[in-house]
Amino acid sequence: MSGVFQMANYNGGSYVVIEGKREAQNFFIIMKGKLRTQKEMQYAGEEASQVLGPGDFFGVESAMSGHSRIETVVALSECSLIVVNHDQFGLLIQKNTPVAMKIIRSFSVKLRSFDNTITRLSFRNAVEEDPQHLFEVAEFWFNQKRFNHAAYGFQKYLQWCPTGEKVSQAKMRLQSMNKPMVAPAVPESNINRTFKEDEMVFAENEPGRELYIIQSGRVKITKMVNGQEVMLAVLQPGDIFGEMALLDNKPRSASAIIAEDATMLAINKTNFEGMVKAQPQLATRLITILSERIWMAYRQLSNLMISDPLGRLFDTLLTLAEKNHVKIGPKASHNFDIGGKDLLKMVGFDEKKDERYLMDLLKNRWMRLDEGKLICLDLQELEKQVAFHKKKVSMDRKREKAAAR
Ligand code: CMP
Repeated sequence: MSGVFQMANYNGGSYVVIEGKREAQNFFIIMKGKLRTQKEMQYAGEEASQVLGPGDFFGVESAMSGHSRIETVVALSECSLIVVNHDQFGLLIQKNTPVAMKIIRSFSVKLRSFDNTITRLSFRNAVEEDPQHLFEVAEFWFNQKRFNHAAYGFQKYLQWCPTGEKVSQAKMRLQSMNKPMVAPAVPESNINRTFKEDEMVFAENEPGRELYIIQSGRVKITKMVNGQEVMLAVLQPGDIFGEMALLDNKPRSASAIIAEDATMLAINKTNFEGMVKAQPQLATRLITILSERIWMAYRQLSNLMISDPLGRLFDTLLTLAEKNHVKIGPKASHNFDIGGKDLLKMVGFDEKKDERYLMDLLKNRWMRLDEGKLICLDLQELEKQVAFHKKKVSMDRKREKAAAR
């Protein structure tokens, strides 16, 4: 494999990638030697650093999403690395399908663990992925009078938890809505699927064996958080979803509901690997989507570690600008598509009680509110503020550690 890709050798102590560095083009697969990862912001429960060895890879999220590096990696000994450019992922699949598959699989595991930590830290509730919870999701929809969704949820509860505690309640609900006890069977052998608006593709907590590639129409991805349904994304043709349950054998992490009549390809485990090999561009798209989501989840997590509320607002704005691939530089400006209240909500602050932080934000002459939308007139200043607040967190942490010794 090394013949078609570039190789690079590093001495012990060299920095191969540095957190925060932009325009990362390459990712690395370790052939020989050991390296250590480091992150500026750590959350409770996360390993401070990890040691990587032959067969491991790093730098994929940033190279494939075109965003800044999310970790620093230092060589611990002399090492040899395979350097893969972001546009060579297809080639990597052709030359070494197992490595490409390992990357895709590990990404979906990583994403789920990030998602769970974010939910745990920001909403302080445990994340439980268990078909038993299908009942609660269905009950929420029932109370909202969304009877098609509720019926789907109760039917799936009965299917996956036939001896569950709520079986008789679920049956009563279905009867009261005049719906059958069993959902219509989907012909799994047919990979072409059509869905009508408002139909469910799957519900949160339902075991799943397929991923979907949207060919036409739109799909909403929603999740229950603290008894409320939160919209995670609206997906369009070309988008892929449902890969997480397929890749790590866990129930669905969110629900998929049709927002506009849709046609899709449904890929199951058996034909997934075949598809990856036969259509490297699809797998490249999948890894790009996963990289994008991991990058965003990491930034959300590190935002939660910033103790100063104003620092969190600055950091959220910088993440939004970077997400849109806006060039950060002196006097570079960016018009955000959100207002002050949206920003407070994104950080999990209260619109009224925490409004003063918004006022503090707007005291900076390079921040402005125009027709209800936020504008930053100097992204480099914004970046400096974020760096200052992050530095403060890591210094406080060091001090705490020293005091504990
Ligand atoms: P899976 O867990 O199988 O089922 C729900 C799907 O929603 C999940 O796979 C992802 O494909 C998708 N998904 C989960 N979280 C997000 C998110 N934050 N943005 C977009 N899609 C998501």
